[in-house]
Amino acid sequence: MTPENHWTHPVASPDGTGSRGTDLTHPDAHRPPAMETPVTRALEDRPPLGPIERLDHDGLVANQQSELAASRRKYTLSSRALFSVMDLVYGKERSLEKFRVLEVVARVPYQAWESVAYVAMTHTSKNPDFARRVYDRARIARVEQDNEQWHLLILEKLTRDQRRPWLKGRIIPQILALSYYQLSWILLVIRPKRSYQLNADFEDHAALEYALMVQEHPEWETTPFESQFQGDFGAYDSLADMFRQIGYDEALHRQESEIMMTQPRYT
Ligand SMILES: [Fe+2]
Ligand SMILES: [Fe+2]
Repeated sequence: MTPENHWTHPVASPDGTGSRGTDLTHPDAHRPPAMETPVTRALEDRPPLGPIERLDHDGLVANQQSELAASRRKYTLSSRALFSVMDLVYGKERSLEKFRVLEVVARVPYQAWESVAYVAMTHTSKNPDFARRVYDRARIARVEQDNEQWHLLILEKLTRDQRRPWLKGRIIPQILALSYYQLSWILLVIRPKRSYQLNADFEDHAALEYALMVQEHPEWETTPFESQFQGDFGAYDSLADMFRQIGYDEALHRQESEIMMTQPRYT
């Protein structure tokens, strides 16, 4: 992905008129001109994180195969309960709608961790070194949250034309996300290792589910990935590779949480 970002400037067209061309990979493709503000100007050279670590096709296939072959984490009771509710409400079939709901829920631990970190910074500001370390945790959570957000936006777009029942499509995902947020928040406060463990389980499950979904859809190997989010999440040879990249992101989220489990407190 290009390091350049042009949040506030239209893509220059070959004729110099400033109208956007057909380059869907450009960050500004399909994006209405942003408001020009002090903050948007400051963000101009800081594009949002797309994939955590971009892999090429061979790397993506190798990661998919390794996820398919790997033994899974030993899931906690709360993790198993969440996966069972997902299967019960949305079925065992790996539908795009089920993955959309998964991504609605996936962001919330990072939101909870960011929120806890800001509360902690308020109470530890007399110790700037400590508060700075807490800030670094908040920043990691924010970056992970951004990455999950692209997954959700891509899936929202891919399922846009499907019928979305009010209860299963809107209300239940919000209830799941709210419950998961509260659980992640309170666990981080009272038993931080358990909060990271819960997320590591969730991401482990997601990494496998994406690997299996791609395996179940050989036709996606020749389906192009065309999206208004290519400029943000990258261009891929196929829909299969784009989903493999999301699966690799999930594996890295799992790895990050497993590392945090070894040092769960802000020390
Ligand atoms: Fe995700
Ligand atoms: Fe995830």
